[in-house]
Amino acid sequence: MIRLHINIDHVATLRNARGTQYPDPVYAAELCEYAGADGITCHLREDRRHIRDEDVDALRRSVKTLLNLEMAATPEMAKVAAKVVPDVVTLVPERREEQTTEGGLDVVGNEASVASVAEVCEKNGIKLSLFIEADQRQIEASRQVGARQIEIHTGAYANLAGQNRAEELSRLRRGAEHAAQLGLEVAAGHGLTRHNVVDVAAVSHVSELNIGHAVVADAVFLGLDRAVRDFRAAIQRGIALREKR
Ligand code: PXP
Repeated sequence: MIRLHINIDHVATLRNARGTQYPDPVYAAELCEYAGADGITCHLREDRRHIRDEDVDALRRSVKTLLNLEMAATPEMAKVAAKVVPDVVTLVPERREEQTTEGGLDVVGNEASVASVAEVCEKNGIKLSLFIEADQRQIEASRQVGARQIEIHTGAYANLAGQNRAEELSRLRRGAEHAAQLGLEVAAGHGLTRHNVVDVAAVSHVSELNIGHAVVADAVFLGLDRAVRDFRAAIQRGIALREKR
């Protein structure tokens, strides 16, 4: 079983582009849950470019499955987490000028700020997940700082082709194996489509996928319900591959 978490940030991106009240990310989250999503993910960025504070509050009230709040490891965001109490906090690196989250969090180089958010999570019963590269040092530091889960960044895998993609997939496999040996839960995400997700779902120990852009893009043509269900079917194909190995 792999949990499918849908990131609804880009519904808010579309809303904000016209300064309207619609499309509503909360309604999108409800439809995703209806289509079988196991959780809803949103990223409250420092610049509030898509999801806003009031969206997070409304999602906390309405999400019935599980709310995963992606955020930077800053004192401002630690306060938000303590107030909202999402089910999961995923710490991500954040740079103002980036289009999307590029690269994993440097847990090794930011141990103090990650540890202070870990303390807030511990106090409030929030599961902590760290969005990192499949790198042994980062995985070990994640364990050290008290995370229960790592989310492996699949952006490079998604952007590569042929032999390079195969090598990157092997690196993801080794990372997942190492994390599982340390007792960490393993999630994955970024850049996944209903095509390239199959091989990631086939990676042993991956128990959660966070998917945003491609679901919202597919929804433009297929509708959100169908887009989520198609992803679920693709993930099932990956699980079948895993079981065959
Ligand atoms: N996981 C994390 C931690 C992310 O920051 C993002 C992007 O917001 C995703 C998953 C989803 O990536 P994508 O939108 O490319 O599916």
